[in-house]
Amino acid sequence: MKLWGGRFKKETDRLVEDFHSSISFDQRLYKQDIRGSMAHARMLGKIGVLSEEEVQILVQGLKGILQDIEEGLVEFEIGAEDIHMNIEKLLTQRVGEVGKKLHTARSRNDQVALDVKMYVKEEIVAVSNLLLALQAEILALSEKHLETVMPGYTHLQKAQPITFAHHLMAYFQMFKRDYERFQDCLKRADYMPLGSGALAGTTFPLDRKMVAEELGFANITLNSLDGVSDRDYIIEFMAASSILMMHFSRLCEEIILWSTDEFRFIELDDAYSTGSSIMPQKKNPDVAELIRGKTGRVYGHLMGMLTVMKSLPLAYNKDMQEDKEALFDTVDTVKKCLLTLTPMLKTMQVNEKRMLEGAKGGFTNATDVADYLAKKGVPFREAHAIVGQLVLKCIQENRVLEDLTLAEYQAVSPVFAEDVYQAISVMECVTKRNLPGGPAKDPVMKSIEAGKAWLTEAEENLN
Ligand code: ARG
Repeated sequence: MKLWGGRFKKETDRLVEDFHSSISFDQRLYKQDIRGSMAHARMLGKIGVLSEEEVQILVQGLKGILQDIEEGLVEFEIGAEDIHMNIEKLLTQRVGEVGKKLHTARSRNDQVALDVKMYVKEEIVAVSNLLLALQAEILALSEKHLETVMPGYTHLQKAQPITFAHHLMAYFQMFKRDYERFQDCLKRADYMPLGSGALAGTTFPLDRKMVAEELGFANITLNSLDGVSDRDYIIEFMAASSILMMHFSRLCEEIILWSTDEFRFIELDDAYSTGSSIMPQKKNPDVAELIRGKTGRVYGHLMGMLTVMKSLPLAYNKDMQEDKEALFDTVDTVKKCLLTLTPMLKTMQVNEKRMLEGAKGGFTNATDVADYLAKKGVPFREAHAIVGQLVLKCIQENRVLEDLTLAEYQAVSPVFAEDVYQAISVMECVTKRNLPGGPAKDPVMKSIEAGKAWLTEAEENLN
C-alpha cells in the first residue's frame, strides 16, 4: 500500500503512477533528503517527541541507506513516487515501526523545499568555484597581453585600437557581476523551511533554529505558506545562470569569429576543436559553438520555470515538481560550460601580429586625428568633418592616414604640423587612452590588480 493509501479504495492507475512519479530524477537529492531527515529526527529527540533510542535507530538507519545508495545497492521504486517516500519506505523496511515516526510534524512539501534549497546552496558554491577559476585564467591571460594591440569594434566595424588584455578584462567585469549575482541568490536561499508543514506549520513544538543550525542555514523562513511554495531561489539561480550563459555566448561568438581565416586572431588548441567528416582541412570551434548554443537551453529553463510558477495559488501545488529536471539540467550545463571554457581559453594561441595588423587597418586612428585638431583649438565637430574628408581621400586612393604628407594634411587644415604623425601612431592611440577604465597599459594593469584582490577575497569567503 502507498504511504498515503489509507483513504483510497483503488490502486493508482499504472500510467498515472508513472506520470506523477519523480523518483527517476529527484533521486539526485538523496543526500540532502537524508541529511534533512537526520536533523529532523535529532530535533524531534531534543523536544521529547522521540526517545533518544528512537533517534539513534533512525539516524543509524538513514546512515546505512546513505551508504548503500552511494555504493549503488539501492533500487528505487516508481511506486514510492519520489525520493522522500522511497527513503522513508526503505527506512521502515530496515528499522521497523520506529521508521514510521520520522515523518512526525513534517510534510513532503516542506521536505522538498528543504532538499532543493540545500541542493541549490551547494551548487551555487560549486558553480562559483568554477567561475573563479575562469576569472583567474582571464587575469593570467590579460597579464600576458597588456601590450597586444588589437582593433576594438563597434557594429563589428573597426573602431579604435585597444589591447587584448583590455578586451579580456571586459569579460572579467561581466563574470564578476555574475559571481555577485550567484552570491546574492545564495543569501535568499539561506532560509530553512522545515516546520512549515504541508502549509500551515505544525502543532508540535519544533525547534526550527536547531534544524537550521545543523543544516548550515543562516535563517528560518517566516511564513509557512511561503516556506513551502517559494521557488524564487530556483528562478534566481536560473536567471543568474542565464546571464552568465549570455556572457559565455558573447565570448564564444568572438572566439568563433577570431578563429576564422578572415580574422586569424587566435587559434584554438587541437584538444578543443574538432574536424569534419568530409572536408579534410577543417578545424572547427565546436566547443565554443556548443557553449553558445547551450545558452538557449538555459534561457529555456528560466522561461519554463517562470511559467510553471505563474498564477500558482498558494501554497504547494504539484506543478512545482516540474522545477527539478530544469534545475538539474541548468546546473549540469553551466558546470560543463565552465569546465570546457576555461581550458579552451588557456590553451588557445594568440596571433599578436594579426591583431596588430588588424588594429592598423580600418582607420582606427581617425578619432585621434580629430582629437589632435581639437587639442589645438579646432572645435571638435569641425575637426570631425575635416578628418572625414581625409578618410574619404584615403579610401579613394587606397591609402592610410599615416601615409598622407604634411602638405596633404595642411591642404585641409593649416593647424596640422609635423607632430601629427607621432600623435596618430596606433601605439600612441592606445597609450594616450589612459583614464581609469581605459585600454592603456597602466589602467589595465590597475584593473588586473583590483581583479586579483577581488578574486583572493572571493576565494576566501567562498571556502
Ligand atoms: N515530489 C514532490 C515534488 O517534487 C514532493 C512534494 C509532494 N507533495 C505532495 N503533497 N504531493 O514537488
